[in-house]
Amino acid sequence: MNQAYNPQSFQYDIAQNPGARPARDVAVSFKGLSKTYKMDRVEVPALKGVSGSIAKAATTFITGPSGSGKSTLLNLLGLLDRPTDGEMEILGEDVTKLTDKQAADFRAQHIGFVFQSFNLIPVLSLRENVEFPLLNRKMSWASRKTRALEYLEAVGLGDFVDRRPGEISGGQRQRVAIARALVSEPTLLIADEPTANLDTKTSREIVALMDRIKVELNTSVVICTHDTDLITPGSAIINIVDGQTAGEY
Ligand SMILES: Nc1ncnc2c1ncn2[C@@H]1O[C@H](COP(=O)(O)OP(=O)(O)OP(=O)(O)O)[C@@H](O)[C@H]1O
Ligand SMILES: [Mg+2]
Repeated sequence: MNQAYNPQSFQYDIAQNPGARPARDVAVSFKGLSKTYKMDRVEVPALKGVSGSIAKAATTFITGPSGSGKSTLLNLLGLLDRPTDGEMEILGEDVTKLTDKQAADFRAQHIGFVFQSFNLIPVLSLRENVEFPLLNRKMSWASRKTRALEYLEAVGLGDFVDRRPGEISGGQRQRVAIARALVSEPTLLIADEPTANLDTKTSREIVALMDRIKVELNTSVVICTHDTDLITPGSAIINIVDGQTAGEY
């Protein structure tokens, strides 16, 4: 059994060290994570041995200057890309050991990803866009539809379900993208600059929406942003500078 999850060894640790506090519940932990992009003869070391963790059912912000490696880290956390080196556990699973097929299945089951550019399918209605991640699940057509409608309702778009992405505003599109990321009820919601194309008021609403989701669905939320004004009080922050952690709060 994994020592970290053995309650008996945990009690023993506390007895040996009365000052010790129980570790916070961790959804993701990563150690010495590196990523070097190879382009022809040029190598770009985008991440240079980053270590840290993402707490369960909390919001963690990833901040740092442009080009510092934030998206690279998020892509690794979201299993959209592979590290060159390092270790990573998501929900207790050593994900660096998974095959591509296993990683894709793990991602479909546990991770929702929200992109800066929404990535909605223009010819589908909002409901069909949100249903999309459920298509390869063993669910009836009716229950897929009900679930998609529930999540569109939850992000405040219950009246727009038959519209197409081109017929709604940017903020509403990002809400659809959030509903689509959530419809598979992921344990981990990762958002890369989800508010970059939105005005300040809408940006705050989108962050507030993700913060609410964390409470209601017990989801661990990771948001990458340039805009430190968006950071909600009490959130964890991982600051990345030049491919390295420059502080974890
Ligand atoms: N697919 C890629 N191929 C080669 N180099 C890349 C690739 N993706 C990113 N890089 C490089 O890796 C470094 C980190 O990029 P990354 O996109 O992670 O930064 P970022 O912090 O997300 O920046 P921004 O805030 O502008 O989105 C940069 O030097 C970038 O040019
Ligand atoms: Mg980026």
